[in-house]
Amino acid sequence: MSSAPIGVFDSGIGGMTVARALTQRLPHERLVYFGDTAHLPYGDKSAAAIQAYSVKICDVLLQHGCKVILIACNSASAAAFDLVKAYIGSKAHALNVIDPTVQLVRETYAGRHVGLIGTKQTVGSGVYDRRLDGANVDLVSLATPLLAPMIEDGFVDDAVSNQVIKAYLDDPSLERIEALVLACTHYPLIAPQMRAHYAAQARAVDVLDSSDVVARHVEAFLTLQGLAATASTAAPEHRFFVSDYTDGFEATTRLFFGQHVDLVPHVLWE
Ligand code: DGL
Repeated sequence: MSSAPIGVFDSGIGGMTVARALTQRLPHERLVYFGDTAHLPYGDKSAAAIQAYSVKICDVLLQHGCKVILIACNSASAAAFDLVKAYIGSKAHALNVIDPTVQLVRETYAGRHVGLIGTKQTVGSGVYDRRLDGANVDLVSLATPLLAPMIEDGFVDDAVSNQVIKAYLDDPSLERIEALVLACTHYPLIAPQMRAHYAAQARAVDVLDSSDVVARHVEAFLTLQGLAATASTAAPEHRFFVSDYTDGFEATTRLFFGQHVDLVPHVLWE
């Protein structure tokens, strides 16, 4: 079982920020990635739609014999994790990107003001508020729907993205925060700009990029379960599937994964 792959899925290519963090922390693990490019963005979809897509994707990942299925997408983690966990039962372990971040916030920011930004689906679900219930953390959440399409279109590290970031981060609701949770696959790419934004205002705000937090959580989980892949001389051969292929999606893999990868089309519904 330890040689079986880790399944990772997202609404599209953005989840490759999490896949990339996994490959860096767990270089011997083989990944099977599924990006539901036919149905993105999940951030504007209903929970029911995301649940239906997620179950279909799990079927694909189970067919590939995945030992763990990690929902890399915040919106799908918010809308579909409980269903996915029940659906895959004992066939694989289900993990999401919300629990590791919640644990970090509980451990580090008790008694403090914390902000969270994400899609409308993630923020509207209230899942972080529920999971932080009783943690004595004052959480303020703000939906920032322009950020994901902005990043996908390549507006990163430039004047346009600086303006959009400023407009969101200067929202009065985030005035008192000491940490900001980046609750979306895409946001690690603009974390440096957000840090620069706060530095320019001489504000001490920790910008929490959850991709490495998640990778560390997966590492600890595999070790605990005795499921970690053993070292081998050959590099693992990852596979990347998408429910709708375009050259544009393949081009953005470089942005999110740090290198070009070949995407293999795999339709979810005939
Ligand atoms: N992957 C989504 C998330 O992390 C962002 C993109 C989308 O809305 O599909 O919430």
